[in-house]
Amino acid sequence: MTTFGYEQSLGYDRRATRLLTGLYRRIATDIDANTTDSATVLDLGTGPGKLLSHVAARRPDLRLHGIDLSPHMIEIARRTLAGQPIDLAVADVAELPHPHASIDFAVSSLSMHEWPDLPAAVTELRRVLRPGGGAAIFDFRFTRTREIRRALSTVFGSVDTETVRLPWHPVAVITCYRVTA
Ligand SMILES: C[S@@+](CC[C@H](N)C(=O)[O-])C[C@H]1O[C@@H](n2cnc3c(N)ncnc32)[C@H](O)[C@@H]1O
Repeated sequence: MTTFGYEQSLGYDRRATRLLTGLYRRIATDIDANTTDSATVLDLGTGPGKLLSHVAARRPDLRLHGIDLSPHMIEIARRTLAGQPIDLAVADVAELPHPHASIDFAVSSLSMHEWPDLPAAVTELRRVLRPGGGAAIFDFRFTRTREIRRALSTVFGSVDTETVRLPWHPVAVITCYRVTA
């Protein structure tokens, strides 16, 4: 399995800052609307931690966790989020370090299409969500769509999908998959 190397992670961090701020804001709004006070939120495939930094600014009460397979991404995320009480770990989505039923809301941004074993990852997501907890997975609209939907519906039953249109982009390229445990 390939992961983001150090130079690639730095390059992504620069591009994400320039191109994805609107998406991070949109997802932070979503998390805000779907979480109660002091909820525990997990970002799967957090990359350089940009989304978590937007979420922390908007909702300082939330207990935030982020994991990523790439140690280089986590190193950059630790710098991005320095001084903030956010738990970051190098981990595979298919083998999460979090206890059963410990997460109120999970989120993922532009990462799921890279997960090699979708059924294993989704089973693991279900394990860590508390009963009634939810997940919102934002990913490219045209990549592994059927496979992602099948993996989610096999484990969670129903999957709601929403096409996300970002104001500056002429074509809607993001889908949000929403599930409840
Ligand atoms: C395109 S980046 C997106 C990063 C971040 N979520 C964002 O929106 O800026 C995809 C991230 O998913 C991570 N990733 C890919 N496969 C993974 C896996 N199996 N477990 C955990 N993270 C994974 C990559 O290392 C990478 O940091």
